[in-house]
Amino acid sequence: MVRKSTIQDADNVFELVKDFATSFKPKKELFIQSFRNLLSDKKAFIFVVDNGDKIVGYSLGFIHTTFFANGNVAWLEEIMVDEKFRRVGVGTELVKAFEQKAIDNDCKLIALATRRAADFYSAIGYEESATYFRKLL
Ligand SMILES: CC(C)(COP(=O)(O)OP(=O)(O)OC[C@H]1O[C@@H](n2cnc3c(N)ncnc32)[C@H](O)[C@@H]1OP(=O)(O)O)[C@@H](O)C(=O)NCCC(=O)NCCS
Repeated sequence: MVRKSTIQDADNVFELVKDFATSFKPKKELFIQSFRNLLSDKKAFIFVVDNGDKIVGYSLGFIHTTFFANGNVAWLEEIMVDEKFRRVGVGTELVKAFEQKAIDNDCKLIALATRRAADFYSAIGYEESATYFRKLL
């Protein structure tokens, strides 16, 4: 079942975050601080899929206002599904939940950057667009 996350999910989500991160090594104390801040941030959306036993996937997305799109757009920052629970629709459920928030907030588009999951996004109706640049600070 997909639902909005609560602080009780923190330990479970952190386990998934550790596997999601490739360029950085997540630190628990800093994660907890960010998790608390994001839960009270009206522009941030954390969803989890809870199978009744544990959290098997999470997503983190943001809605922000732009000039170019005449209003709000949604950016999916992170999505991670426990390896043992992949290919059963968990990732799709997480994206759909965030898409609904984007629609509710009158977003004109939803976008993300990915290195590892192009096939997943193509399968659920996303089109490739632009190139992702970054500079580590
Ligand atoms: C990408 C990810 C979130 C997908 O989650 P998932 O729960 O396995 O996805 P779903 O089961 O909803 O997949 C939906 C469809 O996407 C496609 N798809 C998903 N994973 C795929 C893969 N590894 N290779 C090819 N197609 C894939 C399939 O068409 C799938 O439908 P099917 O299983 O009926 O064939 C998951 O693999 C993951 O956590 N990967 C590591 C982290 C990551 O790369 N996150 C994205 C970075 S932004």
